[in-house]
Amino acid sequence: MVRWRTLTGLVAAALAAASLTLAAPAAADSPITPNVVGGSRAAQGEFPFMVRLSMGCGGALYSSRLVLTAAHCVGATGTNTSITATLGAVDLQSSSRITVRSNYVYRAPGYNGSGRDWALIRLATPVTGLSTLKIATTTAYDSGTFTVAGWGAAREGGSQQRYLLKATVPFVSDSTCNAYYGGDVIAAQEICAGYASGGVDTCQGDSGGPMFRRDAANAWIQVGIVSWGQGCARPNYPGVYTQVSYFASSIASAAASLGG
Ligand code: ARG
Repeated sequence: MVRWRTLTGLVAAALAAASLTLAAPAAADSPITPNVVGGSRAAQGEFPFMVRLSMGCGGALYSSRLVLTAAHCVGATGTNTSITATLGAVDLQSSSRITVRSNYVYRAPGYNGSGRDWALIRLATPVTGLSTLKIATTTAYDSGTFTVAGWGAAREGGSQQRYLLKATVPFVSDSTCNAYYGGDVIAAQEICAGYASGGVDTCQGDSGGPMFRRDAANAWIQVGIVSWGQGCARPNYPGVYTQVSYFASSIASAAASLGG
């Protein structure tokens, strides 16, 4: 079932990439709010580390040359110059946006479609003037209220967005999440977030993007990577995210091996 959901995500990502130039924001999506699902528009500069990837995924700027995303968004580890990263603008069509090509992809070792859903993309040239998002290295921040953001669908089955959307979602325990998902959640590697009543969630095209919160010093810290879910924003089906703290040392080693 996990595999099926991941494939669904890949198909959605492929379709998004194929039809590219993202659709205009769907004003008619909901009478209440546009958006991620159940969110609102992010302000320019609010999340300077947010990255849009040309295959139809999100990412977060880990360093000036590295973007942290989901393994299910990329192909195998190796040279890859086919991905375009768009940064520095909430509006993907902004004339002030930055676009940079990839030159290498590092996919989590042993990734097989279930778990280990993280990858690093190295940019051909470093980006300047944008702050990076640090990753959680302990479980200290793996609870509370999280922020999610992305240019993915604003409702299940909806179109990709031109403007960055954001929302906040509460932590859901592994035991509760696994009760909802019939045991498909890999507790050590994944962290869930969402409302039992649904309504707010990430969705197709948000994959790879960060889930983050404030740390003790009030800085943003990444605790999750958008990975999968049953539909989007459905009641009793929280979003499932890669638990960054679990992979933090692997991510840091991989980053170092890529030149930092
Ligand atoms: N796998 C999806 C993608 O490729 C992300 C799904 C997130 N779903 C959710 N209900 N939180 O974009």
